[in-house]
Amino acid sequence: MFDFRPAAGCPKPEAYRQLVAAADALTTGEPDPVANMANVAALLWEFLPDLNWAGFYRMAGSQDNEPVLVLGPFQGRPACIRIPLGSGVCGAAAASGATQLVEDVHAFPGHIACDAASRSELVVPVLRNGEVVAVIDLDSPQPARFDAEDAAGIEALAALLATRI
Ligand code: SME
Repeated sequence: MFDFRPAAGCPKPEAYRQLVAAADALTTGEPDPVANMANVAALLWEFLPDLNWAGFYRMAGSQDNEPVLVLGPFQGRPACIRIPLGSGVCGAAAASGATQLVEDVHAFPGHIACDAASRSELVVPVLRNGEVVAVIDLDSPQPARFDAEDAAGIEALAALLATRI
């Protein structure tokens, strides 16, 4: 199978450049969004150290037509299935359309603890024609695991995926 991994000691921006290139190679020409999200979730898991969850929530309509995030392809422990907009870190990213970089999830009002081991979190919305279609969610058992370089790298990935998921 594919062996995508950054070289040891590779600076973070270069590792993300390689991650986006690998995601491009895996998803180009493939129209199935589930297949593409599944491969990218696996790629995030392979590439990024110190994660306990990596994956997607997709924007969907609930039975009463209120928008809600629904669990998509991921790596890690089984997770919350439906997240209302505005709830938790993922819901905040989806409602605002803005990246959420949370150094201490215990200090984030309304954080949804799918896994008690999570200490920090990065959630980046995937925007298509200005609308949030999904979010990319990364969780870590390490406090303050994510920084601005991680946010920029995942935002570049989200831009690539806008028309592929
Ligand atoms: N912690 C997230 C919920 C999703 S799980 O971490 C996979 C949140 O507060 O939105």
